[in-house]
Amino acid sequence: MRIDPELKALMPPLTEDEFKRLETSILTEGCRDALVVWGDVLVDGHNRYEICTKHGVKFETIQKEFETREDAKKWIITNQIGRRNLTPFQRVEFALQLEEMYVEEARRRQATSTGGAAPQLRVNFPEADKARARDKIGEIAGVSGKQVDKVKKVLLEAPEEVVEKARKGEISINKAYDVIKKKTDLEEKRAILIEKAKAVEMLPETIRLIHGDFLAEYKQLGECSVDCIITDPPYVKEWLHNYEPFARAAAYVLKPGGFLISYVGHIHIDQILDQMRQHLDYYWLACLKHAGTISAVHSRGVQCGYKPILIMQKPPMTKPKRYFGDVIQGTGREKDAHEWQQGEEELRQLFEPFTDPGDVVLDPFMGSGTVISMAQKMSRLAIGFDIDRDNVEIVRWRVSGGNTSPGGPVRWCEEDGEASSSST
Ligand SMILES: C[S@@+](CC[C@H](N)C(=O)[O-])C[C@H]1O[C@@H](n2cnc3c(N)ncnc32)[C@H](O)[C@@H]1O
Repeated sequence: MRIDPELKALMPPLTEDEFKRLETSILTEGCRDALVVWGDVLVDGHNRYEICTKHGVKFETIQKEFETREDAKKWIITNQIGRRNLTPFQRVEFALQLEEMYVEEARRRQATSTGGAAPQLRVNFPEADKARARDKIGEIAGVSGKQVDKVKKVLLEAPEEVVEKARKGEISINKAYDVIKKKTDLEEKRAILIEKAKAVEMLPETIRLIHGDFLAEYKQLGECSVDCIITDPPYVKEWLHNYEPFARAAAYVLKPGGFLISYVGHIHIDQILDQMRQHLDYYWLACLKHAGTISAVHSRGVQCGYKPILIMQKPPMTKPKRYFGDVIQGTGREKDAHEWQQGEEELRQLFEPFTDPGDVVLDPFMGSGTVISMAQKMSRLAIGFDIDRDNVEIVRWRVSGGNTSPGGPVRWCEEDGEASSSST
């Protein structure tokens, strides 16, 4: 019996667990089903063959005839999809191996039905061939042709962790597709805003926007020049080591008694505090209640309903200007101009107790400028930094009277930076 590597590779490998279960079953009950061969080539039963030869277990074979190698491939894939315990995403991914074959078949059929028409008469046919092949793949995988298109796009454009989740069935095909769709929507919106920003000649005098690395350039603001810092730094692990230089820079620019109010992720609060306390005093930990959504943080097994807001202070310890309620009702994240754009209205609940009109408020990591925009609305003087020039352009547009929704209403966020999925 011959093993044809190409035919063998058509099948998704068994997981370690599945392989062990099959091995135990064969060792206790023998090889119940016959292996299928085409001539002397094995076409079905590669795992059983491996186990049987390893342990010297007897097996039977039956012959199957195919006209072509292509037919053999089709049979292997269709047969496996029906038998294996695969998620819809895996079924499509697996069946997509037949796509080229079906496109070719459809092309040949078209050519015959048009009596071998000249290629120029078939201009629209390639798309139709693809659509037919797509529907055929859907039929084999037990999903619609549209779902097949979505899987193809996810495989091409989604981050690997999203693909893996879809493969495992932890998220649906539609949910995986939404990830890329949202990204494309966002990129288009950002491009529109950057274009519009070209028309902005002057900013109000109350606003200063700086394109640069705050951690390297903070001294241009001058010592003790800022009343309050309100910000939302990146949450990624790779950024964690920046909290110490960030706190050092904050201690330099803040006036004595000035507060630093920072949205932070849950997971690394301990390390963030360790670093920040080298230059600032801990004051309070407030909570921003998510608006309507609960995010699952799978790595910790938490249904998370709030975001921590860490409040640090440059000594001496003084109270805020007004009593401050430490549970802030979130108004929902807006994601029209930045992947991590925060809700604007909820910021009032921080601006009011911690700042007065005319105070200088700094956001060193402004993203789409949510803090800057609220500072402007509440008659504070605003300074914003961002290392990404596009963000600075978008904020220029936003504070010049434009808004970050170039078309359509604001969409509320569903996901948290730390969370891998969310539910309402
Ligand atoms: C989480 S986002 C802020 C999102 C913002 N809250 C909003 O509503 O759009 C963090 C931002 O910090 C910026 N950033 C990261 N490191 C920086 C640095 N060293 N200096 C200035 N900006 C930085 C990133 O470009 C990003 O836009």
